[in-house]
Amino acid sequence: MHQLNFLNKEQAEKIAESFETPVYVYSEEKLEEAANNFLAFPSAFWHSVRYAMKANANKNILKLFHKKWILLDCSSEYEAYRAISAGFEPEKLQISGQETPRNLSDLLEKWVKMVATSLQQIEAIWKIAPWTEIWVRINPWMWSWAFKAISTGGETSAFGIWHEYIPQIQELSAKYDLKITKIHIHIGSENTPESWTDSANIGLLFVSQFQDVTTLDLGGGFKKAIMPYEKSADLQAIWESVAATFKQFAEDTDRKIHLEVEPGKYMVINSCSVVAKVDDIVNTWTDGYKFIRTNTGMTEMPRVPMYGVQQPIVVLNNSSETEEYVMVGHCCESGDILTSKLYSQEEIEPIILPKVSEWDIVIIEWTGAYNASMSMKNYNSFPEAGELLLRNSWEILEIRKRQNLEDIWKNEIEVI
Ligand SMILES: Cc1ncc(COP(=O)(O)O)c(C=O)c1O
Repeated sequence: MHQLNFLNKEQAEKIAESFETPVYVYSEEKLEEAANNFLAFPSAFWHSVRYAMKANANKNILKLFHKKWILLDCSSEYEAYRAISAGFEPEKLQISGQETPRNLSDLLEKWVKMVATSLQQIEAIWKIAPWTEIWVRINPWMWSWAFKAISTGGETSAFGIWHEYIPQIQELSAKYDLKITKIHIHIGSENTPESWTDSANIGLLFVSQFQDVTTLDLGGGFKKAIMPYEKSADLQAIWESVAATFKQFAEDTDRKIHLEVEPGKYMVINSCSVVAKVDDIVNTWTDGYKFIRTNTGMTEMPRVPMYGVQQPIVVLNNSSETEEYVMVGHCCESGDILTSKLYSQEEIEPIILPKVSEWDIVIIEWTGAYNASMSMKNYNSFPEAGELLLRNSWEILEIRKRQNLEDIWKNEIEVI
């Protein structure tokens, strides 16, 4: 059975009493800790950390990272404008998304950097801002080797410019007299340690084909273990091996390349607990299963049904008996299961919990990344959940209100 992460029982009970559940609760201390971890690492020739804000874009989280001089990776122009509204200087932002921004001129004039993810985007950027340095995302022939569903590299992926088009990038560079100063690669999430060394080597191979490049951005993908059978990325080992490849490159070419990384999940996943409640308990007769119906689910934690991942689940009660349960979400959707078989959303996998009763508090741990930001909000017209921040282990601050009922339909226009 799992343990509570940063909340204690009293805090969780107070939250469940004072706020409507489900509610996301973040720990300021855990957020600080993750950021400091990343900033502390040594690198060959200095490195910068660019938080991938798609993982969690709450203004307060952005502000906390801003205070630590962390840069941002944005996946759309909307994320860029959102970061600016949170106080980020535009020059600290890069957009590495798939869609070409509609407001490209405005963003470039503000000095937001674009990472061109197609040959067409290189031309579009040049046409608007011939003076700007060009950053390009190249799709290498490798993926992260960990979990295909969250891989963004290799020939099955549409992210970035396929590496065999490097000659075309060079042609464009010669034609428009471009200054290409950064190569970007991001092969996916939860990369294996070996894939970091390989992607650094491949990235440097790309760098060697562009004389003006000063920075290699290796993207994100630092794994953080959330279940006992998982293993976190060994940042020290990754850093050392990546630094060695950069040093070797410097020796061979006399070029000291600056390293950039874009952690998303690692920065925030550990910092959040979803506090929810048991709504009902049902079963499918004596040979069947016992189901715990909760008041949360895919609306707050879309990654669970989307990828079939497992989360640590804690039920707060004083029961000394245990039982085997399948925990499900509140949506009228067969896939809204909180305890499925790993990476296999269609198959349930019961877990052992203390014997539950209606209205027991349920905490789903390690939910800070790609949940609030990816939410399937308003499915079944459930209001978007609120967000809280735990400060100094005792202060609970509301950092996003729960949606009102009217918020759900306020943009609809009646024509009938
Ligand atoms: C371009 C880019 N950088 C960084 C990340 C962050 O990845 P992770 O959250 O696995 O660290 C992503 C996420 O997929 C991404 O698309």
